[in-house]
Amino acid sequence: MKRIGVLTSGGDAPGMNAAIRAVVRKCIYHDIQPYGISCGYSGLIDGDINEMNVGDVGDIIHKGGTILHTARSEEFKTPEGQKKALFQIYRHQLDALIVIGGDGTYCGAQALINQGVPIMGIPATIDNDVAYTDFTIGFDTALNTIVQSIDQIRDTATSHERTYLIEVMGRDSGALALRAGLAVGAESILIPESRMSMVELIDRIKSGISRGKKHALIVVAEGAGSVVDLAKVINTEANLETRVTILGHTQRGGSPTAFDRVLASRLGGYSIELLLNGIMNKAVGMRENRLIHYDFSQEDDNSMEIEKLYSLSKEVSN
Ligand code: F6P
Repeated sequence: MKRIGVLTSGGDAPGMNAAIRAVVRKCIYHDIQPYGISCGYSGLIDGDINEMNVGDVGDIIHKGGTILHTARSEEFKTPEGQKKALFQIYRHQLDALIVIGGDGTYCGAQALINQGVPIMGIPATIDNDVAYTDFTIGFDTALNTIVQSIDQIRDTATSHERTYLIEVMGRDSGALALRAGLAVGAESILIPESRMSMVELIDRIKSGISRGKKHALIVVAEGAGSVVDLAKVINTEANLETRVTILGHTQRGGSPTAFDRVLASRLGGYSIELLLNGIMNKAVGMRENRLIHYDFSQEDDNSMEIEKLYSLSKEVSN
């Protein structure tokens, strides 16, 4: 291994910079020349690939976003796009690639592995929906951002005695909504993995009211349906004044938490360590605080974990 390329792809996540930093510095420590690929697979196709040195990753561990920039490349999904990417990998004589991102990024990695490119994947997405890792880089920061926002919403919800529906990101996963809802003591949490009927939701709100509750916080995962429609139904059926807050992309920004910085540093370093030991075409992750690696194609089922947290949230809220 003489030259390793690193890219970030898909939605950015706080802590990606810490991962880039660890990859670059560990490479240099082991006399490998790291190359930064800008804008994910788009930059790979365009050959936007540059040498990186120790100084390039100085003063970034605390910064959100990604210094390498990111993209969701449609062109890379085509055989022509992949051919162009392959050409650039050979042109720059890259011996391996480190790809930092979520599921989409891993699909791209698999396409390159099929063409014989050695790859290591590092899980980074606020959604926490990547197989075989307890946590993805960025999830903890996004969770804390959400909790801070909802704590602020609670002040005004209490003052005005309103029912608030707060939509959080997560694509098809309820992981963010579930943990955020637990952390703020939400009255109800709606996630795509475990549907709650309107009847049950309204019953829960009404039973709270009958015990003297004046306001309610309902955390809704974006994959669980339209938060605006939901608010209208609650307003009509339960005769409650409702408000909707969609937290949106605020959840993706901000300085990474200490947890995400450490996780990113560990996973970044581990990915290079594995390559140095001749292990490649694996994704790295952390399970029960241990670093692990596994095949990109390996399937994982975290439905039990989601189900347990969901049941707990019902038992301890309202
Ligand atoms: O995957 C991260 C994520 O923030 C999801 O939670 C969300 O559904 C999506 O990306 C939004 O993507 P974009 O920034 O492209 O609108």
